[in-house]
Amino acid sequence: CGIVGYIGLPEKTSQHSALDVLLEGLRRLEYRGYDSAGVATVAAGTVSTRKKSGKLANLLAEIDAAPMEAASVGIGHTRWATHGAPTDQNAHPHLADGGKLAVIHNGIIENFAQLKAKLVAAGEEFSSQTDTEVAAKLIGQYFTGSAAGDLTEAMRLASSELEGAFTLLAVHADQPDRVVASRRNSPLVVGLGEGENFLGSDVSGFIDFTREAVELEQDQVVTITTEDVTIINFDGTPAEGKRFSVNWDAAAAEKGGFGTFMEKEIHDQPKAVEDTLLGRTDASGRLVLDELRIDPEELKGISKIIVLACGTSAYAGMVAKYAIEHWVRVPVEVELSHEFRYRDPIIDDSTLIVSLSQSGETMDTLMAVRYAKEQGARTLAICNTNGSTIPRESDAVLYTHAGPEIAVASTKAFLAQITASYLLGLYMAQLRGKLFQGEIEDILADLHKIPGKIQEVLDGGDQIRELAREMAQEPSVLFLGRHVGYPVAMEGALKLKEIAYIHAEGFAAGELKHGPIALIDQGQPVFVVVPSPHGRDSLHAKVVSNIQEVRARGARTITVAEAGDGDVVDYSETVFYVPETQPLLMPLLTTVPLQIFACALAAEKGYDVDQPRNLAKSVTVE
Ligand code: G6P
Repeated sequence: CGIVGYIGLPEKTSQHSALDVLLEGLRRLEYRGYDSAGVATVAAGTVSTRKKSGKLANLLAEIDAAPMEAASVGIGHTRWATHGAPTDQNAHPHLADGGKLAVIHNGIIENFAQLKAKLVAAGEEFSSQTDTEVAAKLIGQYFTGSAAGDLTEAMRLASSELEGAFTLLAVHADQPDRVVASRRNSPLVVGLGEGENFLGSDVSGFIDFTREAVELEQDQVVTITTEDVTIINFDGTPAEGKRFSVNWDAAAAEKGGFGTFMEKEIHDQPKAVEDTLLGRTDASGRLVLDELRIDPEELKGISKIIVLACGTSAYAGMVAKYAIEHWVRVPVEVELSHEFRYRDPIIDDSTLIVSLSQSGETMDTLMAVRYAKEQGARTLAICNTNGSTIPRESDAVLYTHAGPEIAVASTKAFLAQITASYLLGLYMAQLRGKLFQGEIEDILADLHKIPGKIQEVLDGGDQIRELAREMAQEPSVLFLGRHVGYPVAMEGALKLKEIAYIHAEGFAAGELKHGPIALIDQGQPVFVVVPSPHGRDSLHAKVVSNIQEVRARGARTITVAEAGDGDVVDYSETVFYVPETQPLLMPLLTTVPLQIFACALAAEKGYDVDQPRNLAKSVTVE
């Protein structure tokens, strides 16, 4: 989500109107979320809010229809829904303390269900399904209780009770001289003005007004007034932020300083995986997917799963098959949505259709889901867009929390889909008693280590970018993989086709000898996704033989292998190492170098990486 806060002096003629600053900030931040937007301002001792589902334009129309009183303090939000559908009611701000307190939020509050139960018992009434309203009511309780009318203290006390990821901003009618914010695992920056100060989820929230900024650390509360910026830690001790000057232009600011959205989104991946894992286990380490809206008994009775998707999402589906079949011992088919519907598939009421879609609007997938429903199947959507058509029409839904993906070629949504598929597989294994609880906890523990490991791969990105620059003129690139490395190879090839317009193909390494090896001649680049040497069977050895086979025929071999794998060195021109993890979880790491490669190569060729020719982000025709 995008958040912005502002406070300026009312009497100064040079000052901006709070509403203008907020709306300008939201316009710049709309790339962070666009399913609903809202603002709250404080004037004449009252808090006024306007909020609306849909794009920012809907909020502007709402404000035109019902103008707001002039104000010099306020907060604004543009939402990408996680809890609760993108409706007017679920849009931020959320109110508490009898309408005197307004709160906006970015992130996921993991313990919101427990807190909500306590607040309901204390007599609070809720008007939305969001975790944000829980935070608002909690701040409200502290404000009227032990914080004794001090918004900063109320924010501090409430924030210390929250678990998960959050940036919160609050204004209160009784303290109209300040905006208070807090953060944990979610971004927040302060913009410094003269006689005015700003808050934003990133600098693009205020870049039109100031380039002087302060970065906050983890677990801090900041209070801005017209003259001061005061930071404290959650334990109440004073703190100092880190000052910096923004030297990006406004367009680069939206991209977090990266040249393209795709680069930014590749770098968002540790967070995309982390957020998709958030809030899905209870205190005892058991997976809790209550949000699924499907009776666990029904999931226990499933005899077959069919995964439906298109494009990149279909490759996430292939990874899902390997994991779910291994853990749950239920047969899983993966099929392109547009093929599935026209082949008279065998479906009954014990079939579970799992659709994978970033947008939730892909027509081919939607039609396939509808068809399967008509045939009596149960349908579950794994989707990145809350309230979109496919999850709305499905019996169950598991949202990925990658945040909005702007670049046409999918990156962070892919890793989030794979993560969500693992969660679904582990959840079904838990329900059906197919894995011991300890085994599930071990896998979850390894999953939680993935974001840090993706970061390591990103940190080594220069080596990959250098190779991409050098290879920019290659007419054709091949990708080989086996087991879960096979879909990764397919995805690596798809990325190159999509954005670099290079002929690229992915193959199952075992299939090489049945045809594709004829393509190999002198200098042909071949990427090989190498399985872990610690995996079962002899897969690793087989893939190492495949590398030797293509190399013997003149191929230029580039391998993506697990750290410490010495066997590939002698047969590879270049090796990209990724940190070690369980064999089934490897795609979350091995995909990343291939994304970086395609992105850098397309940029080197001078192509529009974010909006490649002939492609659309969401294909709403069959
Ligand atoms: C389009 C996009 C692809 C995407 C596919 C499926 O073709 O260009 O990047 O993978 O649709 O989209 P979905 O939103 O259903 O995941």
